[in-house]
Amino acid sequence: MKRNTSSQWGTVAIGLHWLLAVLIIGQTVLGAAAEDAQVSPEKFDLFVWHKSLGVSILLLVLLRIAWRLTNPPPDLPAGLSSRDWQLARAGHCLLYALMIAVPLSGWVASDSSRIPFRIFWSVPTPDLMAANRDLSELAGEIHELLVIALLLVVAGHVLAALHHHFIRHNDVLRRMLPWR
Ligand code: HEM
Ligand code: HEM
Repeated sequence: MKRNTSSQWGTVAIGLHWLLAVLIIGQTVLGAAAEDAQVSPEKFDLFVWHKSLGVSILLLVLLRIAWRLTNPPPDLPAGLSSRDWQLARAGHCLLYALMIAVPLSGWVASDSSRIPFRIFWSVPTPDLMAANRDLSELAGEIHELLVIALLLVVAGHVLAALHHHFIRHNDVLRRMLPWR
């Protein structure tokens, strides 16, 4: 089923969840590799890949949020308290906020630098900001801090999923798996 039901996530929500999880982890490795590379044409290319993938991730996150808003999530599995529910909801809101804030801060770092950027070497991007080295560096620092925050929240999220599965023996993880 494409849409969510009262007891199951639908294939679209599951597909977007795992596609984004894989892309975001890959994007983190790519960003760190681009940052560490010696100044060279390859470094420039790594950054074009990083920014292009980052813009694609942002578009997918917006699509995911639109889908989420028009598809109510499944009900809580039996045995979960309202405190569990509030905690999970707060964690998920934070994940969505960081999945938007990380690419936006990267965009500001890129757009306020002097380096021209075409998505996948072809689609020109609007030049919204004047070149400003201080702003670009600050946005770069914020981008890095937000990535660390995202990774920490993801780590908590994964631990919570495993806790539900192995300790509380409920359906929370199973119903998000693509092969259930
Ligand atoms: C989910 C999306 C993204 C993730 C997880 C991510 C992750 C990263 C990471 C890990 C670094 C290296 C930080 C360091 O080691 O210092 C980095 C740097 C960078 N990223 Fe991203 N990024 C994302 C999206 C974007 C987007 C959409 C753009 C621009 C269009 C972008 C532009 C940059 C730039 C310019 C840097 C260098 C920053 C600096 O040091 O000044 N990123 N990113
Ligand atoms: C970059 C990595 C990840 C991100 C950004 C992420 C993000 C999210 C978000 C935002 C939700 C809330 C869905 C909603 O209510 O709309 C969610 C749900 C979920 N995630 Fe992740 N996730 C990631 C990786 C993982 C991993 C590795 C696991 C498993 C170990 C996992 C297990 C789950 C489960 C079980 C749910 C469903 C929770 C429920 O039914 O309320 N996630 N994820």
